[in-house]
Amino acid sequence: MRILSGIQPSGTLHLGNYFGMMKPAIELQDKGQAYYFIADYHSMTSLFDPAQRRENTLEVALDFLACGLDPARTVFFRQSDVPEVTELTWILGTVTPMGLLERCHSYKDKLAKGISFNFGLFAYPVLMAADILIYDSNVVPVGQDQKQHVEVTRDIAIKFNEQYGQTFVIPEPQIRAEVAKVPGVDGEKMSKSYGNAIEIFGDEKVLRKKVMSIKMDSRTPQEPKPDADQNLAIQLMKLVAPPAVAQHYEDRLRVGGLGYGDLKKALFECYWEYFATARARRAELVANLDYVNQVLADGAVKARAVASQVLQRARKACGLS
Ligand code: ADP
Ligand code: TRP
Repeated sequence: MRILSGIQPSGTLHLGNYFGMMKPAIELQDKGQAYYFIADYHSMTSLFDPAQRRENTLEVALDFLACGLDPARTVFFRQSDVPEVTELTWILGTVTPMGLLERCHSYKDKLAKGISFNFGLFAYPVLMAADILIYDSNVVPVGQDQKQHVEVTRDIAIKFNEQYGQTFVIPEPQIRAEVAKVPGVDGEKMSKSYGNAIEIFGDEKVLRKKVMSIKMDSRTPQEPKPDADQNLAIQLMKLVAPPAVAQHYEDRLRVGGLGYGDLKKALFECYWEYFATARARRAELVANLDYVNQVLADGAVKARAVASQVLQRARKACGLS
């Protein structure tokens, strides 16, 4: 079984990225051949600063390796080190109906927000389809917001196979229901672009402040809170604390007497502890960037070997040389 996923280097990674995508992906490393990459081509649709792209790409590599991606078991690479994927994007684009892309939620949301579209941003799901299909991927672990893009990939693959004969493996999205949508400090979906994210790594003081800024209601500490399980800090605590600890705070909130400030302080401690090992590992990696670059270079060689074969299969099927 081949497992594939990617993440854009468009900003600092946060708890939504970690629990929605990175942790499930890292846990799947033992379940098959895992291919994980940093989607730097995709980041070009919305980030236009070359130095920033380079820096973010390195940061994502550090974050992933620190969190437990094991290059001995997983092929870890930069998307743009496998330029074959851009040729496949063209090929797939020619069997992709406009309507399929126009129906994508992320397209419609961006349109509604008045974001002006470049061609790359519109074609984003086609590049994503090429990413998935070029590695004969079976399973794609992602957060809920990427599900539709994997469905689009399936539609494109089926269309191509019908048109030109059996060529591509049809992939399945894999979404963990319990972390499909990690909330941010304002209760909306946590996202780099909403300013509501709690990062995985960063300065302790800054992150403490973020945790303390989690939105609460105006009820007094004494009031019982029968809806304690809906509390944002409790929801996040369930991700980063041992179940008994999270239950303890939920119960205290439910009966009344626990102030929101104390709850958030406890959440911060659990969160800080949860990533302690990864933080130490990340500091080691920062001191050894040659190793990190070598991991990506080795990954690119392995990824390219698969990608070039699948691309040849596709070229042949559609009558290119
Ligand atoms: P962002 O919304 O911060 O820009 P991306 O779109 O780059 O995040 O998402 C990268 C991966 O992380 C995707 O698989 C996505 O589904 C997952 N992800 C992002 N935010 C969340 C969240 N709040 N909850 C669950 N998964 C998320
Ligand atoms: N679009 C994904 C995101 O923003 C990143 C991505 C690019 C991806 N190509 C992919 C995810 C292929 C899974 C498979 O999160």
